[in-house]
Amino acid sequence: MNEHTSQKIFPTTQLEDADGDGHNTSVNPTMGEIIGKRFSRRNFLQGSLAVSAIAATVSPVALMSADEARAQDKSGSAFKFTEVEAGVDASHHVADGYDADILLRWGDAVLPGAPKFDPTKQTADAQSKQFGYNNDYVGYIPLEGSSEHGLLVVNHEYTNPHLMFPGLVKVVDGKIQQGTLSKEQVDVEMAAHGGTIVEIRKAGGKWQVVTDGKYNRRITANTPMEITGPAAGNDRLKTNVDASGTRAIGTINNCAGGVTPWGTYIMAEENFHGYFSGKLPEGHKEAANYKRYGVPEGSYEWANFYDRYDLAKEPNEPNRFGWIVEVDVMDPASMPKKRTALGRTKHEGAESIVAKNGKVVFYLGDDERFDYVYKFVTEGTFNPNDRAANMNLLDKGTLYVAKFNEDGTMQWLPMIHGQGPLTAANGFNSQADVLIECRRAGDVLGATKMDRPEDVQPNGVNGKVYVMLTNNTRRKADQVNAANPRAENAFGHIIEIAENDGDFTATSGKWEVLLKCGDPSVAAVGATFSTETTKNGWFGMPDNCAVDSAGRLWVSTDGNNNKATGRTDGLWAVDTEGEARATSKLFFRVPVGAEMCGPLFTPDDQTAFVAVQHPADGGEDWPGHGRPSYYEDLSTRWPDFKPDMPVRPAVVAITKVGGGKIAV
Ligand code: FEO
Ligand code: CA
Ligand code: CA
Repeated sequence: MNEHTSQKIFPTTQLEDADGDGHNTSVNPTMGEIIGKRFSRRNFLQGSLAVSAIAATVSPVALMSADEARAQDKSGSAFKFTEVEAGVDASHHVADGYDADILLRWGDAVLPGAPKFDPTKQTADAQSKQFGYNNDYVGYIPLEGSSEHGLLVVNHEYTNPHLMFPGLVKVVDGKIQQGTLSKEQVDVEMAAHGGTIVEIRKAGGKWQVVTDGKYNRRITANTPMEITGPAAGNDRLKTNVDASGTRAIGTINNCAGGVTPWGTYIMAEENFHGYFSGKLPEGHKEAANYKRYGVPEGSYEWANFYDRYDLAKEPNEPNRFGWIVEVDVMDPASMPKKRTALGRTKHEGAESIVAKNGKVVFYLGDDERFDYVYKFVTEGTFNPNDRAANMNLLDKGTLYVAKFNEDGTMQWLPMIHGQGPLTAANGFNSQADVLIECRRAGDVLGATKMDRPEDVQPNGVNGKVYVMLTNNTRRKADQVNAANPRAENAFGHIIEIAENDGDFTATSGKWEVLLKCGDPSVAAVGATFSTETTKNGWFGMPDNCAVDSAGRLWVSTDGNNNKATGRTDGLWAVDTEGEARATSKLFFRVPVGAEMCGPLFTPDDQTAFVAVQHPADGGEDWPGHGRPSYYEDLSTRWPDFKPDMPVRPAVVAITKVGGGKIAV
């Protein structure tokens, strides 16, 4: 999702615009002083060409249809498929020759005993046995190495009560008003959060859910968690309920994530600030810490019923969220672990790769305007022959924060207590302090303030790393830097990192902007898609991404407002190599109001799983959705309401008709 928790009745894009400047008020260099020397020097020639191309307002290629462009494509794109036409309607669309089948929707049974979904009769007990809300990260863990039988792991990031509960929204004196949630509705919300682990199997070319699979599990906002690593047991993590500082209740706002090389499931806790309400006691020592994270934001109503979300009653509770959570999917009774060694931020995800020396490197984005990119390098090495030997690799290692220099080099700055400025003089008395106040540690180290770092994906085929930067309309002209080169960056960009010597554990590397996003036919946008990119192929707001086994990059988007872009969110295939570099093609698009999450390829590249979040959000009714864009009083406005709502958050399996690898 975007950096907001989207609890209210407005589309997420509107909520984002209502946000402040982010929470990074450090004097840390935005490198505004540098004012993009690198950009002006290094990209001068490209820039000149780009300006002349867009001076005509619309480039010839941008006006071509997909078919025309494909016929003329001499760029050597790695993607062979007929592009989808960009647009806006109530349904999803996939490229010709592919099927996009709904595999799992909010409310579908994933555990035995789950009742049939009925939005008018929701209970927490039912929801805890059903697929949760707003699916974001999708991972696939093969069973016995199979690409046709495995565990699908899916994060349920957040809830949209205005889309979930019939009658919650009413129109009073012409104004839309959202009602207050009951305890039962809050309990449903809590059960709709977290994650799902569910066995799936492909038969006859189609994926099916195994509802009685022995590994099936729902994780929710009430699942007991163990806190491990350097911050475990620290006084700042102790509460009235947990004097040990090692047992948390639940996980929330699990956005993107990852699957480790040893087959565990990573759930990243992102916008945890929205769940907390109330006031800290006067003069409380966590005040500055919480301000840096925007705690409390208070858009959820959970504190009305549960003390742990009320800062006045449990002032340390927010320190127990914002972590990377690891789940052993092979043991459904296992307690998920919050791995504090990877720091406390608004974690977008945690994608990993085994480096040449056997250490495992996790790349992490902190999704807020002006926040940082991180990576974690395990101290131990991955043992491919002994799964158990890897199970605590995430408790020891080095966390780094990224500094992008104006000359195209970069450093990964170690976040180690006692080194550099991370000392008691700056309020860091232990490694636990560094990790709990990870953002402030980044501030004092001089990390580079980025334009909302979301998914960060290592590519084992070409050795590069791709950083999705969604947008940052609050960046001012005097705050641009080489790695964030646009003021009022409405459409985001993608950075490509090359670690030194191709070593993912390296502490320095080089980087360049792969792509500045947005409509290339509008000169003022300054987008840098290749001229082979059609009017369907450009996108804005890159969010999640995946690399298939051929090393090709796929990007999904969050926030394409159809009024501004003439297109819904979707999944785009982006060339990174050769003449075709920065060419993008639209492969799949979501229904109006939805956000595109996932994506994920099975190891055989024959299936792409994608996650469609909050379809039909946005205040506008569309025929075919089966319900209003928000749940107004149904008796007055929506006589055609269908209890088996056809449009819900869903995981979609994309396969080639007749079988075969996708897009080759
Ligand atoms: Fe949950 Fe940053 O998207
Ligand atoms: Ca995201
Ligand atoms: Ca990813």
